[in-house]
Amino acid sequence: MDSISLTVNGVPREARDVRPHTTLLNWLRDQGLTGCKEGCAEGECGACAVLLARPTEEGGTRLEAVNACLVLLPALNGQEVVTSEGLGEPGHLHPVQRELAYRGGSQCGYCTPGFVVSMAAEYYREDRPAQEFDIHALSGNLCRCTGYRPIADAANALGGVAEGDAFAQRREQPAPTPQATHLTTPSGEFYRPTTLAEALDLLAAHPEALPLAGGTDWGVDVNIRHSRAPITIAIDGLPELRTLTWRENEVEIGAALSLSEIERRLAGRVPLLEELFPLFASRLIRNSATLGGNLGTGSPIGDSPPALLALDARVVLASAAGEREVPLADYFTGYRQTQRRPDELIRAVRLPLPLAPVTGFYKIAKRRFDDISSVAVAVALDLDGDVVRSVRIGLGGVAATPLRAYATEAALTGQPWNERTVREAARVLRGEGTPLDDHRASAAYRAAMLEQTLLKFYFEKTAQEVIL
Ligand SMILES: Cc1cc2nc3c(=O)[nH]c(=O)nc-3n(C[C@H](O)[C@H](O)[C@H](O)COP(=O)(O)OP(=O)(O)OC[C@H]3O[C@@H](n4cnc5c(N)ncnc54)[C@H](O)[C@@H]3O)c2cc1C
Ligand code: FES
Ligand code: FES
Repeated sequence: MDSISLTVNGVPREARDVRPHTTLLNWLRDQGLTGCKEGCAEGECGACAVLLARPTEEGGTRLEAVNACLVLLPALNGQEVVTSEGLGEPGHLHPVQRELAYRGGSQCGYCTPGFVVSMAAEYYREDRPAQEFDIHALSGNLCRCTGYRPIADAANALGGVAEGDAFAQRREQPAPTPQATHLTTPSGEFYRPTTLAEALDLLAAHPEALPLAGGTDWGVDVNIRHSRAPITIAIDGLPELRTLTWRENEVEIGAALSLSEIERRLAGRVPLLEELFPLFASRLIRNSATLGGNLGTGSPIGDSPPALLALDARVVLASAAGEREVPLADYFTGYRQTQRRPDELIRAVRLPLPLAPVTGFYKIAKRRFDDISSVAVAVALDLDGDVVRSVRIGLGGVAATPLRAYATEAALTGQPWNERTVREAARVLRGEGTPLDDHRASAAYRAAMLEQTLLKFYFEKTAQEVIL
């Protein structure tokens, strides 16, 4: 097989001679659908945004905006895509296009189709109150010339969805299901297995294969570093990696759920993750990015590891030989190295219950939103009256791996939780890790931020009366 079929703007299309590393963006533009623009090819600008029809938990369809520059075309076999051209056209503008035009939300127009798509995704969000618009839905879209005020005006002017709107009706129908796919091409193979067992057998036979989840890391490698995998195995549709289960003593989160899905399904029940999500990239990225991918890269600056370390998470690794569970604190073994063997997939992450009552997540970056961490700190605290019963502190960006601040935890445990103890422990925290100077921050700044962050946690979360 060297072709796939997909539906674009309601029209079925056959994509022939597909290469495993062709992006959706490049293919759409080759088809003449040039509304979709390339600004950066690395998920930063949103000029390439398109809508994908994805399943809701209730069996309907959600139109989610993603970066077409990071989606590999073969991953879309049997799927449905809507581009800005499919939303409306001259003479029949979609409400978001009309508002952007009417309110002066477009000048050179390069970013406009991407804004149209992200705005449309929010416009059709199933639980959006008619007169509200979550402006963070546009956090992954950059505009270099108009200025954001007229764009925000357009977004805020949108009302409810009109009766009989075709996309609103589309939401009531089921979304396409993942289709078994196997492409063999001179530039590599692409598989989409439909069961975990099949995926693990493939990995056992081809340990050199690359598991592909949301593609928000791998897509950047493909576009910017020209990385190529001999065999790519799409795992984002595997049902066994897409469950979220509450048990008496733990919550298990599937490794291939997107961060947006986890956010919706947890609905605030893990407050530490609720603090993390808005600070993780943009809505466009969170609609694809997974926890499996964030841990799969082994990056020392991923944002989920500090939070998951503070939550005492365990990683479930699956292979054809069976499953094993590894504490996240032991999972990272060196710079971008982990305990995961090449024949294993991360199937899920488990968080023990009950959760620590007081938690905080702090991401220090150059920009508040849509930026990579210089330092990230997560704290989970359990007090017995005024005494620290237990505390876990996860750190990112201060060593070759994410790590637990064990010395600081020891300095706090069993001590009275007051400003004096916290100031002393914060000085210990300053010395944890082996931070480096790089283009994001100096080692001295990173160390200073560690100290400040524990103080901030103390004052913000537990001693509000002191600062009010
Ligand atoms: C613009 C932009 C902004 C970003 N901002 C942030 C940010 O704020 N914070 C942050 O932490 N990250 C950020 N990232 C990085 C990225 O979004 C995350 O690391 C994300 O969680 C990766 O998930 P994915 O599903 O897209 O991974 P993929 O790209 O699909 O995979 C990444 C790696 O993990 C492996 N992998 C994926 N799933 C599994 C699995 N289940 N088992 C084993 N291996 C697996 C893959 O083989 C690959 O090597 C950003 C990326 C971009 C492009
Ligand atoms: S081209 Fe910039 S996000 Fe895709
Ligand atoms: S209108 Fe020119 S970049 Fe936004």
